[in-house]
Amino acid sequence: MHKRPLAARGAGQWRSAKALVEKQEPGRTAAIFSIKGVHSDMAFGTIRNVRKVFAASELASGSTEPVVALDDASFEFDEGQLVALLGPSGCGKTTLLRIMAGLIQKTSGSVMIGGREVTEPLGDYGFVFQQPSLMPWRSVLDNVLFTMEILKRNDRAARERATHLLDVVGLSGFMQARPHQLSGGMQQRVALCRALIHQPKLLLMDEPFGALDELTRLEMNDLLLRIRKETGASVVFVTHSISEAIYLADKVIVFSRRPARVATEIPIDLPYPRNQQIRFTPAFTQAERLASIALGVIPPVESAA
Ligand SMILES: Nc1ncnc2c1ncn2[C@@H]1O[C@H](COP(=O)(O)OP(=O)(O)O)[C@@H](O)[C@H]1O
Ligand SMILES: [Mg+2]
Repeated sequence: MHKRPLAARGAGQWRSAKALVEKQEPGRTAAIFSIKGVHSDMAFGTIRNVRKVFAASELASGSTEPVVALDDASFEFDEGQLVALLGPSGCGKTTLLRIMAGLIQKTSGSVMIGGREVTEPLGDYGFVFQQPSLMPWRSVLDNVLFTMEILKRNDRAARERATHLLDVVGLSGFMQARPHQLSGGMQQRVALCRALIHQPKLLLMDEPFGALDELTRLEMNDLLLRIRKETGASVVFVTHSISEAIYLADKVIVFSRRPARVATEIPIDLPYPRNQQIRFTPAFTQAERLASIALGVIPPVESAA
């Protein structure tokens, strides 16, 4: 039970409903479970009409006006899906991730993950931030194991898993190194292993590669897709890069300027496994065009040249 807090009763019901559909209509589970408003309560993650207002007293700026950080954000995702949240800076993406993690309270609306309403940290998620935030005095291995210490599960199996994860991300030769001996990309790989060490079903990533140079970022994108395939975790990935969102995601949720509303959802029908060649296909360009329109970067109808 302590291992999988999300797999409580609600999650069990969700899984058995899905299994039933799979049995009765093999191969159609994905289609049925993505029909909006019909079986929506059976999606793995359901974010519905979420609103967040920061009271004036909470604001560091000394403003007397409350800030509406999120206004009516709604979307869904299935288990194992990778959803990218794309939107301009300050539109409320981090706020939404923190609400999904149960770290802050929403003002209204509903967040269901794995069949349970999120009202407090459930422990069954991993969080990766823009900065790796490693502890400088700890070795790479001990940074990864930190979560397991908190959970009081820092046993041999945990060490084996940490070693395996570090191997997958190409850091097996750096387990005893200190964070300052690593490049930014390597540090972020350690943060990724730390987020996955307790085998969470949901990985929340807040612009994790935004501080990296372009080539390292592309490498990290491929690494994330490999890791995601291996772990089967659902991923909610915040970015303000249009191409990163499309390259990674099963679906891109585009947010409007603050207060954030979902401007549009763009399903990404590019096959997996993906590789960098896919960026130069017509389907990729078309998805970029749709996202650019939704963000207001280009007008909906391009005028003839
Ligand atoms: N803890 C907080 N207290 C008060 N206001 C906040 C807090 N966190 C975020 N905000 C405000 O909410 C808005 C959205 O912020 P944020 O979610 O960080 O946007 P994004 O991640 O999309 O850049 C901003 O105007 C920000 O100043
Ligand atoms: Mg942010």
